Amino acid sequence: MKILAFESSCDETAVAVVEDGRKVITDQIFSQADLHAVYGGVVPEIASRSHVEVISRLAQRALDVSGVSRDEIDAVAVTYAPGLIGTVLVGLNFAKAVALSLDVPLIPVHHIKGHVAANYIAYPELEPPFLCLAISGGNTLIIDVRSYTELKIIGATRDDAAGECFDKTARVLGLPYPGGKPIDMLSQGGDDKKYKLPRTNIDGAPYDMSFSGLKTAVINLVHNAEQKGEELDRASLAASFTAAVSDTLVPRTMMAAKELGYKKIAIAGGVAANSRIRADFKAAAEKEGYELYVPPLKLCGDNAAMIGCQGYFEYLAGNTAGSDLNAYANMEL
Ligand code: KG4
Repeated sequence: MKILAFESSCDETAVAVVEDGRKVITDQIFSQADLHAVYGGVVPEIASRSHVEVISRLAQRALDVSGVSRDEIDAVAVTYAPGLIGTVLVGLNFAKAVALSLDVPLIPVHHIKGHVAANYIAYPELEPPFLCLAISGGNTLIIDVRSYTELKIIGATRDDAAGECFDKTARVLGLPYPGGKPIDMLSQGGDDKKYKLPRTNIDGAPYDMSFSGLKTAVINLVHNAEQKGEELDRASLAASFTAAVSDTLVPRTMMAAKELGYKKIAIAGGVAANSRIRADFKAAAEKEGYELYVPPLKLCGDNAAMIGCQGYFEYLAGNTAGSDLNAYANMEL
């Protein structure tokens, strides 16, 4: 079964052709990051307009590159939630029109379920149930993946998402947007114990997380140093910050897996590209004898291959939609 998949929930326009869920024939991504860099974050109006300009040509390119003709497409999958409402609407309406004109089913896909599904592409043998930590610019979730379509959140951030915290920290350090990768690069060779930064626990909710205190601590540290005219060791600050994020994410995920009796742990989302977090998970999984699933960098960030993959499993579960399908900025898993 060949699925044409669309993703437009934030600042990447992406179109993919995916066969039987796990085989990616093509995955075309247009990143708008350069358009937003000057503002230090995504500007929703600019993002929506860019999706409108790009999506039609990107869809044609996906078909051209894949060598798949329009009448070979069996279904259309699309991110319908969660995300920036204006950008989701662009992809959703385009996908609806394509499904209508090709006379094929329309499959709604939850963006976070798509991120989890990136692991099915990277690891053809991976099947639920397992535990997944989804860490992106807008979400930080520990998820019990009970089946391909039944997912339950068992822990979440109470304030900022991990990616947001990377982006804000990068901004205060004068690094470009999106800040995750520049912080990752800056932290190489830094001393991760040089700066004492908080790790927050939430009473009575062992799997929930908080990153706003960490963000504020970094901002205060940088401002204090500026006021006193002191030079900061930027590499060590980036390394200390990343260690604090990783110390918040990794032990909780391991603890949750233990409690649920899972021996398989996956990570997903843009922040899963972080080298320190990947290394810490690898070490923790090896220590406990767990299987660890870490998608390649290309599948960590937003892409449409993951939407086509999850779309396939949604289709098998009978989850299709009519042309009255709406877009949602927020949506339960
Ligand atoms: O999943 P994603 O591409 O988009 C969302 O759905 O949000 O994640 C984007 C986030 C950004 O906050 C970005 O700074 C972060 O992923 N990110 C990283 C790294 N690469 C991207 N964070 C930490 N380390 C990285 N290497």
